[in-house]
Amino acid sequence: MRDLAIVVLAAGKGTRMGNALPKVLHPLAGAPLLAHVLHTARALQPTRLVVVVGHEAARVEAAVRRLDPEAAVVVQEPQRGTGDAVQVALPALPDVGTLLVLYGDTPLLRPSTLERLLAEHRQQQAAVTLLAIRPEDPGAYGRIRTDGAGRPVEIVEARHAPPELLASDLCNSGVMALELELVRRLLPPLAPHPEKGEVYLTDLVARAVAAGAVTALVEAPAEEGLGANDQRELAALEARWQTRRREELLAAGVVMPAPDTVHLALDTTIAPGAVVEPYVVFGPGVVVEEGARVRSFSHLEGARVAAGAEVGPFARLRPGTVVAAGARVGNFVELKNAHLGPGAKANHLAYLGDAEVGAGANIGAGTITCNYDGVAKHRTEIGAGAFIGSDTALVAPVRVGAGAIVGAGSVITADVPDEALAVARGRQCVREGMAPVLRERFRRRQKARERKGEQDRRDERA
Ligand code: UD1
Ligand code: CA
Repeated sequence: MRDLAIVVLAAGKGTRMGNALPKVLHPLAGAPLLAHVLHTARALQPTRLVVVVGHEAARVEAAVRRLDPEAAVVVQEPQRGTGDAVQVALPALPDVGTLLVLYGDTPLLRPSTLERLLAEHRQQQAAVTLLAIRPEDPGAYGRIRTDGAGRPVEIVEARHAPPELLASDLCNSGVMALELELVRRLLPPLAPHPEKGEVYLTDLVARAVAAGAVTALVEAPAEEGLGANDQRELAALEARWQTRRREELLAAGVVMPAPDTVHLALDTTIAPGAVVEPYVVFGPGVVVEEGARVRSFSHLEGARVAAGAEVGPFARLRPGTVVAAGARVGNFVELKNAHLGPGAKANHLAYLGDAEVGAGANIGAGTITCNYDGVAKHRTEIGAGAFIGSDTALVAPVRVGAGAIVGAGSVITADVPDEALAVARGRQCVREGMAPVLRERFRRRQKARERKGEQDRRDERA
């Protein structure tokens, strides 16, 4: 197999998104658009992956470094069109082999489609193979003109296309496989289009044909070529992405009775047989293992829910959370950077932050780890089998030993040894028969207030 290099074009501006964030960094399924494309690109195991950045170059470059540290970044400045972008990338690419061109803002492209494109490219021994789409509204897409045998002979941008070509719905998705040898020979001399001052990568097709090279095309579902030009289109992409991913999870055996109400992230991992109840939101970095159940109205990010564990309804798991096998997190419980040991329970109304909870421990309703002193975060450790009574404040750093019991309503500021009982609250005081006395006192005071009120009103009138 020939070497595969991939270039991702991500230098464009995306003015219509309506905010300062570069278009390719807008989030889809909890990850930047660019992350989706890099993910797809990596799935093809290229020997070289190059990202062309330009608009907000430093910011996009930083994102690339974070998302795919192996990828090379080249800066295109100024941005003189797609052809210019590939030219700028050429020094960072191998001399020969196949080059796959992708756009940083088309997140629905599937690796399997690209594999089909590359297979056809090789089989036809083509120098240029286009990924064509037939969108419902071909609008501004470049149109592909073909010969009698269905081979591409040129791409004409919509603004330059004659009416008969504009009537065609065979459109350029932008994705193409190119032989680097041909690109090096034919691309650099490409001249900018006088009207827009841009160098069109698409002009390469007619040049390749003129040079006697073989061209080919593969059709893909129109969805895969979709990008987002504004927030409305981005939301539409999100909806399509969610639908697709839910279907994959259902097909794999995840139990999701109301899939339309479950919001997933690019990297959400849910094991077959796990249950996700209606109305659950997954932020980035969540793993749900087999036999686990995520109940309704829960919000999870950066968390692992281990086998047989149960979370929610109305649970919030924040980054750094592990709910170990068979553990339970109930309603209105928030965990952050917290490890709940096997079989441990925090069933109601609690906050566990920067905490380590041992196996089988029981965290009573209203328990709070006071992990922040206004300056720094501190850890709370709760030993295996410990019992924390309701409405306990654990002032970190603090450790409650294994098997210890903490009385309800305690404010725990010092370590509690294993198997100890700690009660830290005001002592209860009982005075027999005092209630009627108190009530009589309160009634007398109330009467006195009423009498004073009447007197004041008389004085005012006088
Ligand atoms: C391009 C194609 C068109 C195709 C359409 C599909 C050309 C000339 N036209 O048009 O045939 O139907 O995509 O969406 O190629 N970019 C750079 N540097 C630049 C310019 C663009 O990196 O100087 C990047 C953009 O960030 C974007 C991609 O290239 O990711 C496409 O650029 P865009 O301006 O959106 O091209 P279209 O006009 O949509
Ligand atoms: Ca575009």
